[in-house]
Amino acid sequence: MSRALPKKLPTPQPNPRPFAYRNRTLHCDGADLTALATEHGTPLYVYSAEQISHRFQLFDQAFANRPHTICYAVKANSSLAILRLLAKQGAGFDIVSGGELERVRKAHKPALKKVVFSGVGKQLWEIDAALDADILLFNVESEAELHLLAARAEARNKVARFALRVNPDVFAETHPYISTGLSEHKFGIDINAARAIYRKAKKSKWLDPAGVSVHIGSQIRKVDPFAAALTRVTSLIADLRKDGHNIRYIDAGGGLGVDYGPRLSGSAHFDPAKQVEKYAAALTKGLAAESSHLLLEPGRFIVAQAGALLTRVLYVKKNGTKTFVITDAGMNDLIRPALYHAHHEILPIKQPTGKRPTKNKATNTEEESSEEENKVDIVGPVCESGDFFARDRALPPVKPNDLVLLLDAGAYGMSQTSNYNTRPRPAEVLIDNATTKLIRRRETMRDLLAPEIT
Ligand code: LLP
Repeated sequence: MSRALPKKLPTPQPNPRPFAYRNRTLHCDGADLTALATEHGTPLYVYSAEQISHRFQLFDQAFANRPHTICYAVKANSSLAILRLLAKQGAGFDIVSGGELERVRKAHKPALKKVVFSGVGKQLWEIDAALDADILLFNVESEAELHLLAARAEARNKVARFALRVNPDVFAETHPYISTGLSEHKFGIDINAARAIYRKAKKSKWLDPAGVSVHIGSQIRKVDPFAAALTRVTSLIADLRKDGHNIRYIDAGGGLGVDYGPRLSGSAHFDPAKQVEKYAAALTKGLAAESSHLLLEPGRFIVAQAGALLTRVLYVKKNGTKTFVITDAGMNDLIRPALYHAHHEILPIKQPTGKRPTKNKATNTEEESSEEENKVDIVGPVCESGDFFARDRALPPVKPNDLVLLLDAGAYGMSQTSNYNTRPRPAEVLIDNATTKLIRRRETMRDLLAPEIT
């Protein structure tokens, strides 16, 4: 459990950005991406351990004034080395499956006691495994799930700590696929129905109504909806206390957004330290005098900008007026643009000079002319028109075998990969303290075909 610190510590100094040009070549925390591509092949996910730790610390310190635990949302990036890195800094974890529970166990077993278990479709074996692991809290999303939880707790002679995940009916501006806090969404229990369910639960000696939880969506940039949701939750908690429940936890969910816009090209308007401070202030406003232990479930904010996807250009081709840059990474390696029309900045590994040499035929000498950016579609090899990373994007000229980097891919990148088109999933490297660690080897054909029976 994170401790409550008596007073706020100074906010840590922002890191230099993990991906930056040095000697006109992109590096991640000092590691040369060209060398990484040669050594490990492409597509390759590259992460900065320093940036991940830095983001975690920013979050932690923004809430230093109240008792809290940061339960990192495993789904954002579930690679074991990253979970271990965060666990070592005191993180708990928000999981949504028995598989994610196993990942936490494998990454850092003592962290199991700081796990919260969310999700609308928990299966019996997953509930059993979480009860056996003695996790901190079940975030229950329906009355039927609560019945099952009570039955399984009884069968194992355990008392299950739970929070109802309430749906506060608060609108948060984001992509419709990742918005969850309206009554039209499948998530949570109508906040107006919650009190009656807690009353019923009190009758079971196998259930401990320990908290209330809420999560309104992901990639939310304006912080007011978080405050509005918590205001509704704290008023429910006041009622629950009147009913005699011993509520000790408020789980405020995750959802704080990041800036996917241009970052290396000079715009510095996004300051993660300021963003998390604004978020903490909004939550504090919503919580008012409520002093329960605060659980937070950030995912994206911690890892998105610490990671990038390195890919090699296979071909450049023209169809009519359009130019396509075809890379060896596809939608199976990073699905966010295809699924949410998400924007990821794309940079050539070699920094453009702004000039390029051209031959002057008259004098037969090399001259410099300006290197113009062309509008291109950057696409993958998968057989779908939806397999694109960017459309009509200005990009300095690239040719086959050049490397390009898709930025801000640390969250919901690797964790949403698939083997579609029978493509092995990428390898991953973590740059930690000036050393490069391969944290996942590239899949082989053998890995892919192993489960199949002919
Ligand atoms: N807690 C719960 C209950 C969640 O459902 C989620 C995300 C989080 C925490 C973490 O939210 P974050 O802090 O990362 O926004 N694949 C999509 C995002 C899906 C988010 C699902 N739930 C994307 O690539 O944008």
